[in-house]
Amino acid sequence: MRQHVNPLSRNFNEIERIPSLIEIFGDSKLNLHLDIGCAAGEFLFDLALVNKSWNYLGIEIRERLVKTAKLKVREREIKNLYFVFGNANNILKDVQSKFILENVKSISFNFPDPWFKKKHYKRRVVQPDFINILSNSLQTGSLIFIKTDVKDLFDYMDCTISSNFNFKNIDKKDINYSKSFNPNELKTNREKLVILNKLDIFEGIYIKT
Ligand SMILES: C[S@@+](CC[C@H](N)C(=O)[O-])C[C@H]1O[C@@H](n2cnc3c(N)ncnc32)[C@H](O)[C@@H]1O
Repeated sequence: MRQHVNPLSRNFNEIERIPSLIEIFGDSKLNLHLDIGCAAGEFLFDLALVNKSWNYLGIEIRERLVKTAKLKVREREIKNLYFVFGNANNILKDVQSKFILENVKSISFNFPDPWFKKKHYKRRVVQPDFINILSNSLQTGSLIFIKTDVKDLFDYMDCTISSNFNFKNIDKKDINYSKSFNPNELKTNREKLVILNKLDIFEGIYIKT
């Protein structure tokens, strides 16, 4: 079991500036998906290689993973994938990153760190003030996807997002996956492990109204 990184540590106060979409993607006009807590980015590599009509951006707090992922993107000359190192909360709250939220079509939180102890809930990536920022910046119709195998974390995230009047919960069966960021319904590494271990997966999808 790996030690979770404490996102509230001062190490993450300084944030990486994200270059403009024109600088980071081959075609900046494509739909943009943001994956928060993308680990080594395998899920995003799989998506970016299959779906050339989307751009993918991953944010991850473990610097070594991001360095390796960035190197792989350069070596393979992938033009629709970019990684950013840091605490996603700090990065996306910063006014310099506002253009990211204004341009994304969808955001995923796949199997975020659960932080089981109540005193550590504030380290969870989904926070009311963060959801408020998303609600103020996302375009109408943008989607948030959450997935976890921890029921308590699901209830917490679901309640936090649903408490914001700008987000409405939608049924998975009403999503046209073929037009989404993940038309082939690819799985993340954590999801594959959860499926292998026959554990439950709790999932929520929310639309910005
Ligand atoms: C349990 S892993 C899941 C990885 C991947 N999404 C998956 O489904 O396989 C959670 C990831 O989120 C990252 N993470 C946790 N808090 C974060 C934060 N505030 N900002 C960015 N990444 C974070 C962790 O370092 C870890 O890589």
